[in-house]
Amino acid sequence: MLTVVIKPPKNIQIMALLLYLVPLFSVHTFQPKVNSPIFTQRVSSDPDVNRSFCTFQPLSPQDALEERLILDSTAWPETPLLPGPISLEQTSDPAHSNFTILPGRRGGQWRVGDQLEVMIQTSDFKGRPKKSGGDFLLARLHNRMLEAGVAGQVVDHLNGSYSAVFSLLWEGDAQVMLVHPFEAISVLDRLTREQPDRIYFKSLFRSGSLSEATMCNVCLRPTQPLCNYTDLRTGDPWFCYKPKNLSCDARIQHIRGGYIQNLKAKEETLFQSRVNMKVSIRASGPSNVTLKVKSNTVPSGPSGYYYQGLWRALSGTTVRQFNTSAITECLKGKVVHMYGDSTIRQWFEFLKATVPGLKEFDLHSSKQSGPLMVLDYANNILVTFRCHGPPLRFSNIPTREFRYIANELDGLVGGINSVVVIGIWSHLGTFPMAIYIRRLQSIRRAVVRLLDRAPGTLVVMRTANPKALTLYETITNSDWFSLQRDKVLRAVFKGMNVHLIDAWEMTLAHHLPHSLHPQPPIIKNMINHILSYICPQKAG
Ligand SMILES: *[C@@H]1O[C@H](CO)[C@@H](O)[C@H](O)[C@H]1NC(C)=O
Ligand SMILES: *[C@@H]1O[C@H](CO)[C@@H](O)[C@H](O)[C@H]1NC(C)=O
Ligand SMILES: *[C@@H]1O[C@H](CO)[C@@H](O)[C@H](O)[C@H]1NC(C)=O
Ligand SMILES: *[C@@H]1O[C@H](CO)[C@@H](O)[C@H](O)[C@H]1NC(C)=O
Ligand SMILES: *[C@@H]1O[C@H](CO)[C@@H](O)[C@H](O)[C@H]1NC(C)=O
Ligand SMILES: *[C@@H]1O[C@H](CO)[C@@H](O)[C@H](O)[C@H]1NC(C)=O
Ligand SMILES: *[C@@H]1O[C@H](CO)[C@@H](O)[C@H](O)[C@H]1NC(C)=O
Repeated sequence: MLTVVIKPPKNIQIMALLLYLVPLFSVHTFQPKVNSPIFTQRVSSDPDVNRSFCTFQPLSPQDALEERLILDSTAWPETPLLPGPISLEQTSDPAHSNFTILPGRRGGQWRVGDQLEVMIQTSDFKGRPKKSGGDFLLARLHNRMLEAGVAGQVVDHLNGSYSAVFSLLWEGDAQVMLVHPFEAISVLDRLTREQPDRIYFKSLFRSGSLSEATMCNVCLRPTQPLCNYTDLRTGDPWFCYKPKNLSCDARIQHIRGGYIQNLKAKEETLFQSRVNMKVSIRASGPSNVTLKVKSNTVPSGPSGYYYQGLWRALSGTTVRQFNTSAITECLKGKVVHMYGDSTIRQWFEFLKATVPGLKEFDLHSSKQSGPLMVLDYANNILVTFRCHGPPLRFSNIPTREFRYIANELDGLVGGINSVVVIGIWSHLGTFPMAIYIRRLQSIRRAVVRLLDRAPGTLVVMRTANPKALTLYETITNSDWFSLQRDKVLRAVFKGMNVHLIDAWEMTLAHHLPHSLHPQPPIIKNMINHILSYICPQKAG
């Protein structure tokens, strides 16, 4: 057999190695990827629910079993913590850690479609190799020349070394990043168990000339009488302290409260931006490989990749490019309802700003929480946005606008002209996982009902994405919290006829910095992806 070696264009490098621990699923619907390395894990069945002040409605036996299975399947490896106070010295130091490209089955020769494996060895601040795992690794990659990027998968060997596996799609250079050492994750974990109320909220109560504000939360310490606002249909919990002189019914407005930081001595050393939080790990040798081009293997693993700045999905749908007139053409006669957090509102805002025919109808509502509405009267297009129910870090929402996504879906007729877009993750990060699982279970039940009565309805779900991290951002919404929720979301919607926008990979694989609100080039790719589900390429 003759292998043709095609000389790569100069300066083109593989920056392709994106390491992370999320099980990958296909783009089209929530199906598990076959053929992907399994993340070895030990089961941590310690629920993060603090029973002393988090009280939830009982689950059906089926949902309770699912909750158990999901918690087990997403559990982070249990790594023994050294006794005594945290010692930064003994935690992973990106500056002392490195990675090496393994020679592969062709002895260091590569073709498009090959799996490239990288071995990462972590070491502590004294340069001693780590003997235990549990670090959160990620890598950002891109080939700047080709504007190409792709995500890989990380396997934690639980002995201080990690593998990352990539589909080779083009040539370039690899970058690996430590997001958090294991010890930082154990701090985040403890915070959720001990202080699920570290982000707090308030409500204003008013009747006649009396007004009062009290504290509200998902988990509220029972030190005073409570108002119980648990949603009777979805079961989603929400509580406020009862005002002294007013009834629970007098609640009118939701107010963002604040945040209580309660780290122990030295713990903040585990969250240092240029030291051990989102810091690159360098290659011990070359970080790139030369490709022998030509192979018909379909790459598996990632849900897509960037090439020339455009997102190419690897399954499900061919991502088309929509200019403004094509967007209007695609949405003609359609109703698009978007529900969720500000990362969903970004999509609404993008359409509003991009498509001249879409005019905002002023509902005199909060710009943060909505409801918001844009209309193209001539083309019969309606796009709406509404935030999800509490917990919400937005300020000054009339409590009458608190709507749970599941209840909103139950109010839709649905049909072939209806598109439903859902994204809920970033406001839920600091609360027990059970809260998130239950929220998604109730949304899933409503999606099932919607698709039963109106099978033509298109449902699109957005995953979480990595963001820029400071100490505050980390304690209140670390990528680690987002990663766990991302896994849960994929597990809950697995096998459903729901389309996925893999915001996690689309943000990781892009050369732009991680951001809670990804920048316009990424948003544009996401919008093109959604529109490609709504208006797939016509056959022939
Ligand atoms: C790989 O990187 C080295 C140095 O970092 C560079 O000299 C070399 O040209 C690169 N090779 C390819 C194929 O990009
Ligand atoms: C709140 O109300 C729900 C629904 O009625 C109930 O199941 C739950 O036990 C109540 N919680 C508390 C703390 O009273
Ligand atoms: C860690 O485990 C992996 C997988 O079993 C193995 O390849 C590697 O050599 C081990 N590393 C050390 C330092 O023992
Ligand atoms: C529950 O929270 C309290 C108060 O923050 C804390 O003392 C206790 O350790 C927590 N329980 C668990 C199981 O973490
Ligand atoms: C409640 O009403 C009593 C009697 O009118 C008043 O003294 C007290 O200040 C009020 N408390 C609050 C919190 O408004
Ligand atoms: C990479 O890390 C290993 C294990 O800590 C170490 O032995 C080796 O010297 C490092 N290589 C470089 C180039 O730093
Ligand atoms: C927009 O794209 C369509 C094809 O999708 C093309 O026919 C049309 O010319 C484009 N319009 C502009 C203004 O680029």
